[in-house]
Amino acid sequence: MCGIVGYIGTQAATDILLAGLEKLEYRGYDSAGIATVWEGEVNCVRAKGKLHNLRSKLEQIETPAQIGIGHTRWATHGKPEEYNAHPHMDNAMRVAVVQNGIIENYRELREELKAKGHVFRSETDTEVIPHLIAELLKNFSPSSPSSPLLEAIRQAVNHLQGAFALAVVCADYPDELIVVRQQAPLVIGFGQGEFFCASDTPAIVAYTRAVLPLENGEIARLTPLGVEIYNFAGDRLKKQPRLLNLNPTMVEKQGFKHFMLKEIHEQPGVVRASLEAYFNNVEENVRSPINLGLPEDLYTDLEQIHIVACGTSWHAALIGKYLIEQLAGISTQVHYASEYRYAPSPLTSNTLIIGVTQSGETADTLAALAMEKERRQRKEAKYEARFLGITNRPESSLGHLVPHIISTLAGIEIGVAATKTFTAQLMAFYALALDLAAHHQTVDKETLDKIINGLRQIPKDIESTLESQERLSEQLAHEFAETQDFIFVGRGINFPIALEGALKLKEISYIHAEGYPAGEMKHGPIALLDAKVPVVAIAVPGSVYEKVISNAQEAKARDSRLIGVTPVNDGEAAEIFNDLLPVSDVEELLSPLLTVVPLQLLAYHIAARRGLDVDQPRNLAKSVTVE
Ligand code: F6R
Repeated sequence: MCGIVGYIGTQAATDILLAGLEKLEYRGYDSAGIATVWEGEVNCVRAKGKLHNLRSKLEQIETPAQIGIGHTRWATHGKPEEYNAHPHMDNAMRVAVVQNGIIENYRELREELKAKGHVFRSETDTEVIPHLIAELLKNFSPSSPSSPLLEAIRQAVNHLQGAFALAVVCADYPDELIVVRQQAPLVIGFGQGEFFCASDTPAIVAYTRAVLPLENGEIARLTPLGVEIYNFAGDRLKKQPRLLNLNPTMVEKQGFKHFMLKEIHEQPGVVRASLEAYFNNVEENVRSPINLGLPEDLYTDLEQIHIVACGTSWHAALIGKYLIEQLAGISTQVHYASEYRYAPSPLTSNTLIIGVTQSGETADTLAALAMEKERRQRKEAKYEARFLGITNRPESSLGHLVPHIISTLAGIEIGVAATKTFTAQLMAFYALALDLAAHHQTVDKETLDKIINGLRQIPKDIESTLESQERLSEQLAHEFAETQDFIFVGRGINFPIALEGALKLKEISYIHAEGYPAGEMKHGPIALLDAKVPVVAIAVPGSVYEKVISNAQEAKARDSRLIGVTPVNDGEAAEIFNDLLPVSDVEELLSPLLTVVPLQLLAYHIAARRGLDVDQPRNLAKSVTVE
């Protein structure tokens, strides 16, 4: 959601904060601001809109300050206006705070503080925090030997309810940067005589790879001499940083116009990395040729699976359901995390609960899992469930919440629209479904080997799809850039790809698009069709090929222009569809790994042609850490 960055050390803080915010802009981008401390004053500069607005403002102000905090915002409470931008300050302008998350009890706190004379200038929940800290600081003498700032912030966070991460500086304590984590991510970076904090590692990887992610309920004091960590009760904790496996070039565009395009092109590599990690020891493991590092008892007597996820991860989960049910024969339900949280399924025994989230920080998914854990702990032992997470960020909050993780191997994804992380999630589901099938002996060895060998061909097939599609999808984008509505249809394992194709288009091009199971069109949505509404149909040979072709014909009869995602050299399809986005001919079961690629490219090129900000589409943020 919002992005936080902080610096204390020997370099000019403003430059480091701006560089860090640039790397975090994917988390939110409706306003930005920084606050530095210099010569006993806090200098706070904020601007509405993208980061370049803040940058232009800062060009007129030169400060050699060596401590500061920065923020890029995704509005929750209050409009995206400069007066709501972070950092927020107390009335005396001594304490500056940036926050990511939501303070649920801010109204009560605001009233209490108003009664004590505090005047509020924004509509945000965050503004109560600097006021509260300033109020608590009144109880300390600045010359006190321990850190009054740390103590005041510690007391303040004990009054706050909600999920939040904070970074705080104060004019009266120019050598202290205090950071807090409570259910919103925050990582500390360790340099030589300088220290950093950020919501996410890309912001600091250019300066250091030694990092320490804070855990919930932790508060850290960063000074030029080092880092001290405490819990909310004030006990000092001993923690060591670890080395990050991320190099600064991974967060560059590397010659591509946008991160999204770069990330689409990285998908063959993502599949290769997944094959290597999940399927490498085929000969060694007699029970199953898949190596997910999961314990045997996760699979024993398994009767049901529930998956919770949001957005693109939910689409990946639908494909996971198809694979698990068809290959391993285990009944699987996929839930929107935001719905499951308030209307969970009845409790069942021998159940596996899977949370899928690329960021590992999606508030809805985490809350659904936490709720499920809690309600099962309250019931009899027979309802105890097993929990598993699928994430691209094993160090995330999800990693702390569930005992077992399948790490997806996409590398960091910067474009807000998920592409390569989706493919990585699919690979995790292929591995999981095949592993379950091997354990439950629902497929024979020959079939298993055939599927795994098929998967091994996929990177090359994606490469040739990317090569042939680049020009085709660009041409189509030219024709459809002004189209107002799109329908995507698919069936079986490719129905979720229709949903994903529509979501990609909506997100980055702002064109209305819907995905439907092709057979459902005639039950209502077909009324939408006419010559102005193109239909993209995913039609690959297999169990539902003829059915999808007939459904496409029905759309054509209503004058819709038909775009087919079909195998290369499919003569029948060439006659029916007006335009083709051909993919390699692979087993239907593996086809989603290919059919999604032209749809990602189509969405990308349409958005680029419309001159839109592909990597940072309006109103969206990369990880949605609020409910
Ligand atoms: C779509 C997209 C979102 C996310 C959703 C869940 O391109 O990025 O729909 O998929 O917000 O995010 P994660 O996977 O981080 O839980």
